[in-house]
Amino acid sequence: MKIAMLGSGFIGRFYADSLQGLRSKDKIVAIYSRREESSKKFAEDYKVAFSTIKMEEAINRPEVEVVCIALPNNLHEEAVMLCCKHKKAVITTKPLGRNAAEAKRMLEAVEQAGIFNGYLEDLVYTPKFIKAHESVKNGALGRILWAKSRETHPGPHSDWFWDLDQAGGGCILDLGCHCVEITRSYIGKEIKPIEVMCWADTQVKPIDAEDHAIALIKYENGAIAQFEVSWTFRGGLDLRDEVMGTEGTIWVNSFLRTGFEMFTTGKGADYVAEKAESNSGWLFPVGDEINELGYNHMFADMFNSMENGTPPRETFYDGYVVNAVLDSAFRSAKTKLWEPVILDIWRGLEGVTKDSHLQEYDADHYLVKEELTHYGAKKVILKNKTTGKILEKVLS
Ligand SMILES: NC(=O)c1ccc[n+]([C@@H]2O[C@H](COP(=O)([O-])OP(=O)(O)OC[C@H]3O[C@@H](n4cnc5c(N)ncnc54)[C@H](O)[C@@H]3O)[C@@H](O)[C@H]2O)c1
Repeated sequence: MKIAMLGSGFIGRFYADSLQGLRSKDKIVAIYSRREESSKKFAEDYKVAFSTIKMEEAINRPEVEVVCIALPNNLHEEAVMLCCKHKKAVITTKPLGRNAAEAKRMLEAVEQAGIFNGYLEDLVYTPKFIKAHESVKNGALGRILWAKSRETHPGPHSDWFWDLDQAGGGCILDLGCHCVEITRSYIGKEIKPIEVMCWADTQVKPIDAEDHAIALIKYENGAIAQFEVSWTFRGGLDLRDEVMGTEGTIWVNSFLRTGFEMFTTGKGADYVAEKAESNSGWLFPVGDEINELGYNHMFADMFNSMENGTPPRETFYDGYVVNAVLDSAFRSAKTKLWEPVILDIWRGLEGVTKDSHLQEYDADHYLVKEELTHYGAKKVILKNKTTGKILEKVLS
């Protein structure tokens, strides 16, 4: 694939390392960056033939097959509209928009232009997520009741993130977008998110946006999602998911305590992992960050889908749904009420009713609980269907 990269910063370079790493045949052929020195430096580092400080020039190169947007949030829409104008396939980093209205305009524009569109939500492509999600889909956890995702770190690396107008929000938008798509994927992307309750505050940083938030997202089938996000967490990048179903549980720790622990006095101190706060003492390095953050699997899905003429796992539509959920979280943080999720465009199931909590035991009873005790008794706790009375039976 021949790619134009828009943006040469933090994520642009992670993407480039993934795209051109290992034995990839994909190649960045054009780079746009705001400043000439960054654009030239990126071109030199990644051997990119064409560099420019004019966005449209990078997009409109005849050899460019797909445009990868790695720009600050407030520039996504402008870049997407230029891709539509020049009919170039487009893949965009997260969040899709600063809000659902922006995301909706982008979704409608790419669909009207008939161009391939992919939403670069890398955290649903991590090897751990892919395996966990497969187990969930195969029914290993039964009916999913609760999915929780946490992303907290000591705050982002560039000025624009901290500026409410450019970023569109604080940690809710920056980190919550990952958590919403992770939990939504576990619950089932065809299930409609209906209401959000969110607490958010600015506890530490001198900014207008929130630096800490916790939210609950109710789904139409009765499942509940939860996100915990913060720009004030100390100790590195904490990325954890938890999924609970009627038949099991999965806990995923993606970054801080992954089983790789190292102690150093600091001699030869080096880069450890994204947002690590120290490079001496006990450390938690990450083996292959690019792979473990999902970038490799994400681009493989994007480009395989482009070649096969099918939509990728994550499209602009998913980005739009995520923005709509986050808009409700922002509203709820203000009103302190459950706020409805407003989805003008919804392509999943409609009118799903809450799953039943009544598990059949026999003609007269529902099963509440079964347990083998430490003294060898097998007990069942039952509820009488007619009287509602709870009773227990010792079976052996
Ligand atoms: N895991 C992820 O998916 C992930 C991680 C980090 C960032 N992001 C997203 O990537 C995007 C860029 O974030 P980043 O961390 O690379 O930021 P960054 O500040 O490191 O880089 C941004 C790039 O855009 C350019 N830029 C900045 N302001 C500009 C302006 N006003 N006009 C034109 N160009 C400008 C910068 O020069 C730089 O090349 C954001 O949407 C962010 O949410 C995604």
